Amino acid sequence: MEHSHTADWWKKSTVYQVYPKSFKDTTGSGEGDIRGLIEKLDYLQGLGIDIIWLQPVYVSPQNDNGYDVADYCEINPEYGTMADFDELAAEVRRRNMHLMLDIVVNHSSTEHRWFQEAKQSRNNPYRDYYIWKDPAPGGGVPNNWQSKFGGPAWQYDEATGQYFLTLFDKTQADLNWENPAVREEVVKLMTFWAEKGVSGFRLDVINLISKDQNFPDDDGSARPGDGRKFYTDGPRVHEYMKELNRRIFKPYNLVTVGEMSSTSLENCILYSNPEQNELSMTFNFHHLKVDYPNGQKWELMPYDFEQLKSLLSRWQTGMQEGCGWNALFFNNHDQPRALSRFTDDSEYRVESAKLLATTLHGLQGTPYVFQGEEIGLPNPKWNGIEEMRDVESHNIYRILQEQGKSPEEAFNIIRERSRDNSRTPMLWDSTPNAGFTSGTPWIKVDERYPEINVERQLHDPDSVYHHYKKLIGLRKKHQILIDGTFVRLDEAHPQVFAYSRVKGQEAVVVVSNFSKEQTVFQFADAFAEEWLEAGPAELLAGNTKQVPPLWKEMALSPFASYMWLIRRK
Ligand code: GLC
Repeated sequence: MEHSHTADWWKKSTVYQVYPKSFKDTTGSGEGDIRGLIEKLDYLQGLGIDIIWLQPVYVSPQNDNGYDVADYCEINPEYGTMADFDELAAEVRRRNMHLMLDIVVNHSSTEHRWFQEAKQSRNNPYRDYYIWKDPAPGGGVPNNWQSKFGGPAWQYDEATGQYFLTLFDKTQADLNWENPAVREEVVKLMTFWAEKGVSGFRLDVINLISKDQNFPDDDGSARPGDGRKFYTDGPRVHEYMKELNRRIFKPYNLVTVGEMSSTSLENCILYSNPEQNELSMTFNFHHLKVDYPNGQKWELMPYDFEQLKSLLSRWQTGMQEGCGWNALFFNNHDQPRALSRFTDDSEYRVESAKLLATTLHGLQGTPYVFQGEEIGLPNPKWNGIEEMRDVESHNIYRILQEQGKSPEEAFNIIRERSRDNSRTPMLWDSTPNAGFTSGTPWIKVDERYPEINVERQLHDPDSVYHHYKKLIGLRKKHQILIDGTFVRLDEAHPQVFAYSRVKGQEAVVVVSNFSKEQTVFQFADAFAEEWLEAGPAELLAGNTKQVPPLWKEMALSPFASYMWLIRRK
């Protein structure tokens, strides 16, 4: 394989995340499919993408859009056939790109054969594939853990008189990793896909697989997610990662990224430091909780800019010092669009989209672009809960009202926070349904598609698309963007995030004004002397027509953002 000559070729890569249901429909079903992705491979190659993270396309009842897997080694008919998949894999390889599959093994669907067996009887050979507990003394759930999607994390099975654990939807039963037979199955299914020639895996909520075997009550007040300290980065998780690394990741030279829910820097260093032999890199979500008052997703608050900067900076420095590796991202299918959340998605939409891109791609790590991000797609404008599709949104809508909120209040929270915000279809062109489908789309298409679409942006050199393409190219050209040391420069400026990457005689400087107001930014004396006065600065990327000179004091227009390269003489 083209890039695989070095062990860490993926450090220079950019990953593109495809949400297949909303990417491109070729059958008129209203849902995207694998052939739709094949059609768009040239587009992704043109953007400079190296790795495509394909979200779950396995057989699934789709209660959680494919994260509820009923057969790990078959393709869901809505998405196509195994022949389509094989063709996709071959077409990706032919373009010297790589395919990364989403592996969901914290839980399976209750429709999976293993679970269907397990619930037959307490002594079924598959019983121990899942986590079963007797009711608490006196009846009721075994402990007070809460599902991440709201409500108790336990489901009662009448026939056998026990509860089974479901940390997500009630049809997503947690697998019992303590059971070596489960780990064998995981190795088997991963081998199946590795043998098909995929280059890597994204591992869904992989840091939740090892539970405290005492299953203690949480002393919190039973809010969504409670209980998490008893299974997050749990007792045996690193042992399990090392086992997978030894048996699959290393032998097949795979790139792996773990989705780490509520994790810590210390653990992410362990997961991704190459000497630990676990994963290539990790996603963490701390920087995407800066608008959660007291960590509560379902309460609104303007985001805390200083916290956003400190968290990004802390993870930059911490992972660098610990020899770990960050997966860099502002968007994914579980998050509202960062453009609407942290910047301005109307008047300054284009500037904002470019600012977020420049800020992210200058950091150390492997950047992930979530479909639509590269054309500056904002959150849709929702008219009511009935337009939403996500099981979590509907659960929480009900729960918020049970807690006393009016339907309007509940909806106002959900329209901001719903995962559906990022799941609306890709906007390809200005034909009906944005060229996504000839049928009825499964979820609404953003009505701004005549203005915001891929085709228009391909032809506009100043578009968000071309900005992304440039940034993706820069990381291939400038080694400093891969291994330069991160230094934060803005000292708590209320509007500006500024940092540099430093390596030998070179420095990259990134300055971004995250506000609608014009502002002035001043570099510290020492930095100005050491770098600004030391050599000529080359503008690598920017988002305004007029670019201010890189000097000690700079005036920045609303949402202005620049990346410069300085070479010391
Ligand atoms: C991850 C996925 C999310 C899914 C959950 C349960 O967080 O990204 O979409 O609902 O895991 O599998």
